Amino acid sequence: MKVGEKNYRTIWLKEEEPKVICIIDQRHLPHHFIIEELHTTNEVAVAISDMHIRGAGLIGATAAYGMYLATIEASEKKSFEEHLQQSAKLLKSTRPTAVNLEWAVNRMLDAISTVQFVDEKLIIAKKTALFIADEDANHCKNIGLNGLSIIEEISKKKNGEIVNILTHCNAGWLAFVDHGSATAPIYEAFARGIKIHVWVDETRPRNQGASLTAWELLNQGVPHTIIADNTGGHLMQHGMVDMVITGADRVTRIGDAANKIGTYLKALAAKDNQIPFYVALPSSTFDWKISDGIKQIQIEERNSDEVKYMTGLCDGEIKKILVTPEKSNAANYGFDVTPARLITGLITERGVCKANEKEILNLFPEQK
Ligand code: MRU
Repeated sequence: MKVGEKNYRTIWLKEEEPKVICIIDQRHLPHHFIIEELHTTNEVAVAISDMHIRGAGLIGATAAYGMYLATIEASEKKSFEEHLQQSAKLLKSTRPTAVNLEWAVNRMLDAISTVQFVDEKLIIAKKTALFIADEDANHCKNIGLNGLSIIEEISKKKNGEIVNILTHCNAGWLAFVDHGSATAPIYEAFARGIKIHVWVDETRPRNQGASLTAWELLNQGVPHTIIADNTGGHLMQHGMVDMVITGADRVTRIGDAANKIGTYLKALAAKDNQIPFYVALPSSTFDWKISDGIKQIQIEERNSDEVKYMTGLCDGEIKKILVTPEKSNAANYGFDVTPARLITGLITERGVCKANEKEILNLFPEQK
């Protein structure tokens, strides 16, 4: 997607040095656009756990590139397999909720195990990491095309008046390799001249909405307004939201969806106001092994300082400030689960379906 006049993806191999991974270090956005180079599996693990990159799809793609570096490192060790398995374990331990992480690491291990010699393993590791990244971008593009018809229909019903879409957190291109999940239909609709406006939840505590989604939309020229997290319900009661689209970090086979903390409350408000609530996701975000999202999805708990402090630009410098009494306790649950019954539909790369097992498996019959 566009940053200024240039097109970027969120992750790529350095052209002159293909053993180096380049990422956009999202900790500095929206104020500074900084590209970071990652040289080792350990650096990749830190980039994921400390959220230099984040978002389910991008976590998966970064882990895949991390496994490519792990393969290079393993080829220089006495025990190839031991190093590879240790690296897989390290990468899987970086963040618990987005299933794309485990999915990508396992896919890399499977691919690497299909060939016998180290030279072949190096080739297949690189090829598979590149494939996972390209596939993520393509799936998001198709999510955009499939979600477009929903926005088109609302636009028609409103006789071409502005369609107001509310989104939570950042399920934009920064959360994937390109295009995004929740934002992909928005970008498609905007490109086709449909009048849209996006309400962007700030998404405390890390403000991925205010800092990342707003930055993305601004770069693409999409009209948007940032709102405090608790505003959505009020807007819905006053007819100012036509639909909600969020992303997801893990979706069960019956359609329960884990997403950034606060998503559940938006879904409740949408239900109470008969506003369609869609979850957009690529198939890599389904966890086919589980059904009950509330009982079975591990919710990440992060450092309470993320709640107690806020970071932003002050007099031209990035500063961190304390916004709570220093001695108060704070809790920082990263995600919540929206039960399938509150979700109008799932927008996937294969099409849109209701959030229930039968309809999901109609789109993905190989998971029956
Ligand atoms: O903690 P993050 O920033 O990695 O959380 C992920 C998210 O941005 C959201 O939950 C998003 O809506 C889904 S990720 C595609």
